[in-house]
Amino acid sequence: MIQVENLKKHYGPTQALAGVSFEVPRGEVLGFVGPNGAGKTTTMKILTGFLYPDEGSAKLGGLDVLEQPLETKKLVGYLPESNPLYMEMSVLAYLRFAADIRGVEGRYRKAAVEKVVRDCGLGGVKGKDIGELSKGYKQRVGLAQAMIHDPDILILDEPTSGLDPNQIVEIRNLIKKIGQERTVILSTHYLQEVEATCDRVIIIHQGRIVADDKLDRLVSQDGDLPLLLGVVGPEEKIRTQLQELAGKGNVESLDRRGDAFFCRLHGLPREMGNEAIFDLLVTRNGWKLVELHRETPRLETIFRKLTGGTEEPVPVEDEREEALAASSSPGEEKGGSE
Ligand SMILES: Nc1ncnc2c1ncn2[C@@H]1O[C@H](COP(=O)(O)OP(=O)(O)OP(=O)(O)O)[C@@H](O)[C@H]1O
Ligand SMILES: [Mg+2]
Repeated sequence: MIQVENLKKHYGPTQALAGVSFEVPRGEVLGFVGPNGAGKTTTMKILTGFLYPDEGSAKLGGLDVLEQPLETKKLVGYLPESNPLYMEMSVLAYLRFAADIRGVEGRYRKAAVEKVVRDCGLGGVKGKDIGELSKGYKQRVGLAQAMIHDPDILILDEPTSGLDPNQIVEIRNLIKKIGQERTVILSTHYLQEVEATCDRVIIIHQGRIVADDKLDRLVSQDGDLPLLLGVVGPEEKIRTQLQELAGKGNVESLDRRGDAFFCRLHGLPREMGNEAIFDLLVTRNGWKLVELHRETPRLETIFRKLTGGTEEPVPVEDEREEALAASSSPGEEKGGSE
């Protein structure tokens, strides 16, 4: 559905794209991620006909965006990074206007507007001026205008940027729904968003693609998949037993919480199942296992490796904390609102 070949673009002396090639099959939701200045917006602007590349080609539905700009614009809806809207217009008036400039014929306009109002959950605010809406609703209006001519392809440049966590989830769900029927390229700085919504991910860095794969394949290629363990029992003995199993340097002590000792086991063969650990700790030694799971590397780890992040990532959420909170005794508060 989308074919991009060897795109190059300079802004003066700045090389924004240094030869970007990829394809997106029909129906795929592609996550497009990369650090600031990587070239995401530049690529999206070229795909949507807002910018000419210096070299290379981009095709939508088999049509070249440079040679057939009018035809390819019909195939694609675009939510730009800045989401430019007319603040003094009402939602309905703006969407009617968007339908006109997108060439939706008069007799279909009403139905087209009604459909995007429904699909984007704008029913409650359609009479309001856009300037009065919250940022999340403005993003919905941006999505609605991108979809007004019912395009097969949607290019969304940071659709959830600057939204609160509730609105992020709502827009994400909306994108998931939209993505069931369309081909979508979505750029974002929220890697969990890619994990939650995308089939495939492209990581772009300094104008070049440094990774392009299905999400599960990309994260499973990352080598060591450590096991996270929480055990109640004599710490030294537990450590010794685990060292016998995994090798001395492979037991990384984490912390103690209450009676439980937490550690990470590295270097275990992937085919070693949880049974072997359970057997050693529980069946043979009678200790209590309070946590056992294989840590899958997050996209964040891979992103940082490939794009040169050097500092330790700030943990987004501590799964152990969650597990502990979930197993805490009834009546105990799960984290207050300080
Ligand atoms: N209009 C412009 N004039 C000059 N340089 C530009 C212009 N637009 C982008 N650039 C430069 O081109 C490079 C790629 O920018 P681009 O906006 O495509 O990155 P991005 O991946 O979208 O970044 P961000 O995550 O910050 O949105 C950057 O070095 C940027 O400074
Ligand atoms: Mg950008």
